[in-house]
Amino acid sequence: MSIAARDVASASLLDVAAVRRDFPVLDQEINGHPLAYLDNAASYQRPTQVIDAIAHYYRHDHANVHRGVHTLSHRATEAYEGARDKVQRFINAQSRREIIFTRGTTESINLIAAALGSQLSAGDEVVITHLEHHSNIVPWQLLCESRGILLKVVPINSQGEIELDRYFDLLGPRTRLVSVAQVSNALGTVLPLQTIIAAARERDILVLVDGAQGIAHQPVDVQTLDCDFYAFSGHKMCGPTGIGVLYARESILQTLPPWQGGGDMIRTVSFSGSTWNDLPYRFEAGTPNIAGAIGLGAAIDYLENIGIQQIAEHERRLLEYGEAALADVPGLRIIGTAMEKVSVISFDIEGIHPHDLGTVLDHQGVAIRAGHHCAMPVMEFFGVAGTARASFAFYNTTGEIDQLRSAIDQAIVMFR
Ligand SMILES: Cc1ncc(COP(=O)(O)O)c(C=O)c1O
Repeated sequence: MSIAARDVASASLLDVAAVRRDFPVLDQEINGHPLAYLDNAASYQRPTQVIDAIAHYYRHDHANVHRGVHTLSHRATEAYEGARDKVQRFINAQSRREIIFTRGTTESINLIAAALGSQLSAGDEVVITHLEHHSNIVPWQLLCESRGILLKVVPINSQGEIELDRYFDLLGPRTRLVSVAQVSNALGTVLPLQTIIAAARERDILVLVDGAQGIAHQPVDVQTLDCDFYAFSGHKMCGPTGIGVLYARESILQTLPPWQGGGDMIRTVSFSGSTWNDLPYRFEAGTPNIAGAIGLGAAIDYLENIGIQQIAEHERRLLEYGEAALADVPGLRIIGTAMEKVSVISFDIEGIHPHDLGTVLDHQGVAIRAGHHCAMPVMEFFGVAGTARASFAFYNTTGEIDQLRSAIDQAIVMFR
């Protein structure tokens, strides 16, 4: 049975063979082997539908948005604002005014650090967890330096889960914000957001969710989550790079000062002062990434068409299959064994540096990531400089996991 056929059989909910035909990049050989792209936590591939939407925009509709009176500018504006509506619907925000386009998760978090940070005082506290990506650590450290705020870190256990009791203990009268990942990119741990957010809200503490690794793996409803801010990146959900979203609760957004000045974010400008545009434009200074937003809208259409539940179910099967496939590799240790995980397997193999392993796997056509995954504190906790990380998307197959296993076996023969 072919790889694709076997997968259709093992995951009846999703026609993986059909899905893969939408991703031209997957259909190629690397170093004489079929490409097995298992680096999805770093960035997803894009389907033809997204590539075509961007190409169509540039071929037919490009002009600057919002300001023009001519037809192309109307079309560009309609497509750009249409993408905002799609995002609003996708995450079930109450209003389109709550959807701010950014460059990605990193910029979304930095926006809040700048805007909210300007309202914090020395001694105010921000709570994060030990699982965070650097982009949810460093912006707060910059605020520690510039405004004297204090950063509190929720510890993790040996499975890579956060210690909830310690989290509750860290919430105090000076805690202003809890900023946590939905899913750890380094380990795949799914954080208990419901509990985290409920505890913060009981104490009137704002919550920012870094949804970079959550958005494409499970349905997201910001109203049900009840978070104040939700950040994500287009390229981690089949959309373009350089585009992302900050969802922010409107009542809070109204109280925040602009974070960047320029065109589009103002209502009036004079040398005696300026006034600000309505939401969300107040937080989108300058010409935006119009094509990026349109591509993101097309990615949302694509994912919705497949169904996030189906995606989650297929990825759950891949994770199960992957963990079983690697279980008896001599000297292999899976790092991050949380009860709740998405389809990420981080591991090290005794005696083989992750970078060497990644290079040898590439010779076999297998693309994984090796290194600290922008989560150095997690690496430090587990006493490693880095890990090898295979991360699966809905277009991956069990056959590709077999290819990973066989490439690892060959690497072991080579290095031992
Ligand atoms: C959990 C998490 N947060 C934030 C980021 C940063 O995303 P971006 O580089 O798209 O801004 C990443 C990227 O890997 C991530 O995995």
